[in-house]
Amino acid sequence: MMMRRVRNEAAGFCLLCGIVLAVVLVAAYAVVYPVVVTVDSAALGRLTLAAAPAPGNSTAPSSLLAFNISLAVAVRNPNWAMSAWLVAPPIGELRFRGVPFAWGSLPPPPGTGRRGRNRIRARRTEVYRVSSTAQGVPMAALGSDGVAEFSRESAAGVFELELVVIGKVRYQAHPHRRRFFKVSCPLNLSLPTPPTMFARVTCT
Ligand SMILES: *[C@@H]1O[C@H](CO)[C@@H](O)[C@H](O)[C@H]1NC(C)=O
Ligand SMILES: *[C@@H]1O[C@H](CO)[C@@H](O)[C@H](O)[C@H]1NC(C)=O
Ligand SMILES: *[C@@H]1O[C@H](CO)[C@@H](O)[C@H](O)[C@H]1NC(C)=O
Repeated sequence: MMMRRVRNEAAGFCLLCGIVLAVVLVAAYAVVYPVVVTVDSAALGRLTLAAAPAPGNSTAPSSLLAFNISLAVAVRNPNWAMSAWLVAPPIGELRFRGVPFAWGSLPPPPGTGRRGRNRIRARRTEVYRVSSTAQGVPMAALGSDGVAEFSRESAAGVFELELVVIGKVRYQAHPHRRRFFKVSCPLNLSLPTPPTMFARVTCT
């Protein structure tokens, strides 16, 4: 009688073990939490818009942008057991009022594997640092409203920029599925940006 109860309890306990194990495995490997992108620091060294001679006989306003900006973009893998691989370095694109003025792949952090494939272990973060400078970037798409807005922000000393980050990720235990992400990070940057001024931005 006593023995049987002990056996039954042991069997019940092991059934519970199995259920717990299954739940843990499902939680660890079946449910994928997408990577989280944040901008951890951003500094604007220069941002100017100069009027350019209108092309041909067109009367549309034309302007050229010059800038100097540096960014630290962090990609965090929130999964607690699964690694994530960025299939290629993510692409960043900077915009003012929706008009792109700089884009390119974010340079992989030192120690990144072959072909820019970058493993982000569970609960870890990779930081991509990029500095970009250019002048004479045509901003015809800005229009006169955009130029007026630029002047307003320039006078206020704070520019509202946007960084769009695009990438492709593969997660451990899901070898055949590549997940595409595209997030937007609003950046309000004073010019010049004091190093301590920037508060981390989460991209959505
Ligand atoms: C960009 O700005 C940084 C400081 O923010 C400066 O050290 C660097 O020389 C600038 N680069 C250009 C090309 O203006
Ligand atoms: C203005 O440009 C258009 C085409 O863009 C052309 O057909 C027209 O002849 C030009 N007018 C003058 C005065 O140059
Ligand atoms: C940026 O500034 C604008 C205007 O002041 C404000 O509406 C917006 O919420 C700010 N965005 C962030 C991310 O701080």
